[in-house]
Amino acid sequence: MANFIPDDKVSEIRHAVDITDVVSETVILKRAGKNLVGLCPFHAEKTPSFSVSPDKQIFYCFGCGCGGDVFAFVMKRDGLAFAEALRALARRSGIDLPERALSREDQHRLKERERLFEINRLALHYFAQHLGQHPSGRAPLAYLERRGVTRRSIEAFQLGYAPKGWDGLLAFMGGRSVPPGFVEKAGLAVPRKDGSGFYDRFRDRIMFPILDDASRVVAFGGRVLDDSTPKYLNSPETPIYTKRNVLYGLNRAKERCRSLGSVFIVEGYLDLIALHQAGLENAVATLGTALTAEHIRALTRHAGRMVLVYDSDEAGIRSAQRCVSLFWKEHADFRRGDVFQEDQADTRILVLPEGEDPDSFIKRRGAEAFERLAQSAPGMVRFLTESAVKRHGLSTEGKIRVVSELLGPLAAVNDPVAKAFYIQQLAERTGVEEGVIRQGLQRRARPPEPHAAAERRVSAPPAEDRFERHIVAMMLQVPEMIPEIIDRNILDCFEEGPLKRSAEELIASGHRAGAPLSDRLACVPEGPRREQLAQLAMRDEEWDPKGCRTLLDRFVESRRKLPARRSLQHGIEAAEKAADEAELMRLLSEKQKLAARSRSAAPTAAPKR
Ligand code: UTP
Ligand code: MN
Repeated sequence: MANFIPDDKVSEIRHAVDITDVVSETVILKRAGKNLVGLCPFHAEKTPSFSVSPDKQIFYCFGCGCGGDVFAFVMKRDGLAFAEALRALARRSGIDLPERALSREDQHRLKERERLFEINRLALHYFAQHLGQHPSGRAPLAYLERRGVTRRSIEAFQLGYAPKGWDGLLAFMGGRSVPPGFVEKAGLAVPRKDGSGFYDRFRDRIMFPILDDASRVVAFGGRVLDDSTPKYLNSPETPIYTKRNVLYGLNRAKERCRSLGSVFIVEGYLDLIALHQAGLENAVATLGTALTAEHIRALTRHAGRMVLVYDSDEAGIRSAQRCVSLFWKEHADFRRGDVFQEDQADTRILVLPEGEDPDSFIKRRGAEAFERLAQSAPGMVRFLTESAVKRHGLSTEGKIRVVSELLGPLAAVNDPVAKAFYIQQLAERTGVEEGVIRQGLQRRARPPEPHAAAERRVSAPPAEDRFERHIVAMMLQVPEMIPEIIDRNILDCFEEGPLKRSAEELIASGHRAGAPLSDRLACVPEGPRREQLAQLAMRDEEWDPKGCRTLLDRFVESRRKLPARRSLQHGIEAAEKAADEAELMRLLSEKQKLAARSRSAAPTAAPKR
């Protein structure tokens, strides 16, 4: 797709936009030396490891290893293909792109998305009008009044009414030249079984528009006015609506979430509205589906503490257990020790009294009572402990059950301090000795690591390739050195692998020394290798010509010794097998000497983060 866009256009756009501005739309950035740092929008974290370099015009996250130029950022943030990201950035900097800049497919997809947003927006107005002005809108208005929804909320949440009848909306859309097929695509119409056209999906229902982060209408929920079923009907998934990504009310709540640092997560439309009316505007709703990893990720960008509100113990337990494994997965995906424990420690489970949901509770007992409950809401581990105690009691049998139920969640806690604390808590609560709980934990095998994560891994590099990484960082930051690297056949000394491939491509792309860094990153394909280059480009170092040359000398020197080191390793293994103690000691001390020598030769100061 990228082929359709002339390179000079890409460059022009790159020069016209500042990555800092673009990232700032999503991430609050603070200055840290030459770079700016903030919370990574692509993984859940509480301490900023997401860095942007205004000089180099690239970003890199030390937490999850994603990185690249401004295009990579927009692609990842908005889920766009390269060409779409380019177009979006061109638009904001007032650069004209020839139509052929987008592939047919992309143009089609983009047009379709815009069309669907537009249809939903039209539908919103149609529904809103029927709630307000129309005679048929009296019953739903009265219903909302009875439920305590104020006029202000009706306006703020843009509620509406889908009238009775089978084709009111379809006719309205037809009048605006929207063909029925498109109304169906937007999820607002359903094809008749006999194939003779379509009928309105939502009829005689109160309509709740669902807005995305950017306040675009992506879907609707519709409630009946009586006890008939289904109580709520929701739009199906469409090209602009993916349920696991969307939280109802987030667009209105996010500012407040940020300023208060916390968010309430409830299940229903009317629960959310009740909270807002009570002044608790830091609230979102999952709309009856379970909380997903995407939801959590979106929320951690806005709030550190999450209070999950449930209307029964049982729902709370299910969700807490699910969350424990979600957070664990988040952790496994990103190899970050601190994500899991911190966020878990800050996730509270609030269970309302039997038979109440947030809406009814607030109506009956008031917002203060609700906030008091939130204040004392337990964290996940304590919540799971208490609910297990409630179910199993504290007889000997019960204690054993309680402890064994908690082993799973405890095993998922990665931070040793938090873990020790939880173990102590559990020991005190059950009277089972800490040592016994620890033993139980040890016996539990850790779940296997997901495959997909393997390639993303940002692990400590093996000693040998510290040099190689250093050299590639130099190639990126001091391209004037590339001719010398070519002349001295430096890459021949590289180990075969992705880094070598990237270095070769960097050379093969033959960019002029003057080309901006972010242009040169683009010579390797989008993905882990590009991200690695971004990481290396991000390193903060002072380069001088003499230092660069010394680096190359030392690298060549160390590679000359590599075969010696390898045969030493083989010798050590053989001596171990043969139980030849004397030979083993001799080889080991040799190895130590070699290591000491190469330590003094290797690049000294580790690059600053
Ligand atoms: P609830 O059954 O708890 O309803 O469903 P509620 O929110 O309290 O609704 P009211 O107070 O009776 O009006 C919680 C959420 O689950 C989804 C809706 O998003 C609802 O708000 N749900 C529920 C559906 O999608 N379909 C249904 O049939 C029921
Ligand atoms: Mn309710």
